[in-house]
Amino acid sequence: MAELHFNAFVMNTVSHIQHGLWRHPEAKQADFDDIDTWIELARTLEEGLFDAIFFADVVGLYGPLGGSYEVNAREGLQIPNHDPSALISALAVSTEHLGLAFTSSVLQAHPFEFARRVSTLDHVARGRVAWNIVTSTQENAARNFGHERLTEHDERYAWAEEYLEVVYKLWEGSWEDGALLKDRARGVFSDASRIHKINHVGPRYRVEGPHLPAPSPQRTPFLFQAGSSPAGRAFAARHAEAQFITPPSPEAAAGLIRETRDLARAAGRRGEDIKFFQGFSFVIGSTDEEARRKEEDLERFISVDGFLAHTNLGVSQDTGEPYPPETPLAEVRTNGGRSQIEWLRQRNPGREPTVGDLGALVARRHPRLVGTPERIADELQRWQEAGIDGVNLINWTLTPSYREFNEYLLPVLQKRGLAKREYGKGTLRARFFGHDRLPDRHPAARWRGAFSRPAAAPAPALAETV
Ligand SMILES: Cc1cc2nc3c(=O)[nH]c(=O)nc-3n(C[C@H](O)[C@H](O)[C@H](O)COP(=O)(O)O)c2cc1C
Repeated sequence: MAELHFNAFVMNTVSHIQHGLWRHPEAKQADFDDIDTWIELARTLEEGLFDAIFFADVVGLYGPLGGSYEVNAREGLQIPNHDPSALISALAVSTEHLGLAFTSSVLQAHPFEFARRVSTLDHVARGRVAWNIVTSTQENAARNFGHERLTEHDERYAWAEEYLEVVYKLWEGSWEDGALLKDRARGVFSDASRIHKINHVGPRYRVEGPHLPAPSPQRTPFLFQAGSSPAGRAFAARHAEAQFITPPSPEAAAGLIRETRDLARAAGRRGEDIKFFQGFSFVIGSTDEEARRKEEDLERFISVDGFLAHTNLGVSQDTGEPYPPETPLAEVRTNGGRSQIEWLRQRNPGREPTVGDLGALVARRHPRLVGTPERIADELQRWQEAGIDGVNLINWTLTPSYREFNEYLLPVLQKRGLAKREYGKGTLRARFFGHDRLPDRHPAARWRGAFSRPAAAPAPALAETV
């Protein structure tokens, strides 16, 4: 059996996914603003040989434009939230092996500034940084950065293509290997002839360069992506080294993985150039019965309001106010999520389901594995046979969810050869793929050497990268 990879899926906020759980007596989510919470978690994850801590992030509120954010504030629903990149700088010096993945939207940072920050972090972390590329889905986020409205869905991915072109040019093309000399005897720190301006001119960005940091151990950070619409999948196939997926069953996962790998091959990459991480939460017990009792206990804390506000389904798109939970679903008008409503209708043929029922359903949006460690290991094996390479472990509580993984599940997984027994050496990319830098077939690689060609030689056309 091949080993699975494990990431801890977290956010620098109170309530990330499992809304309401911050009230649990053992939960430390409410102290997310205390650095000790994260240092303790990061060290726990290293004890459990986790590959990476993966920070989600958003730069705005969930909900319709102009709507109330009373529920968001009450539930701690991703507000307050803090910048994950500042946090991973602290975690880089508190850990030795753990990969440090953070989300950043093309909306929130200019690519020149972002590329510089990431190179700096990858130096600090000695090559353990990963970037989850997102394009933002919130109207409020768009307004926070001066836009009238959220850019249209597929156009956001076109925006991301140009953003990547800029950062790839800076990370891969601006500095040649060997440009950094540190030659004390000759008094030459670096060789200007091997450091290049990139002179990027595109629809959204004009960036002269050169990149200010010298290349970091990975140059381009390890690249994650989440989002599985046709445009999202095509984008992942071109760029991602790992995709975060959330299909409801192994069969659905198999289809999604096969399609994305086919797309990657069509884009000149190999199918195995992308690792697929499935999101799961676990409830582990010494017997299945005990696990079910624990699940019931955890469910008592679940906030239906929180789940509904997170998905926009429980908020009226007309008034911006939450629907009362007893509202029949027939009265709910929404632009998205109709399939979830239909699914619930079919499950409750005897009566008209309500908004409250929907909340309970949404709370199970990510597959949940409940039972003894052996049962959970069986399930993971089934998912692995369907093609997943790793798990993004969604927590109920910081830090107990991860401690339980280490104590009960990890030994069983190790015994079956499903989890590693020690960390590999080197950068995060080397541990996933065996090399520090992106392979030549990745689109970032086309910028290597592109700016050192004589002026007469044609530079790669902008459009070729799209
Ligand atoms: C599992 C998962 C995790 C995501 N995490 C984030 C996140 O942390 N921040 C964010 O702005 N968007 C996040 N997204 C949104 C995606 O990046 C993407 O914008 C969204 O899914 C819409 O793209 P799609 O239509 O291609 O699926 C996430 C999506 C998924 C499925």
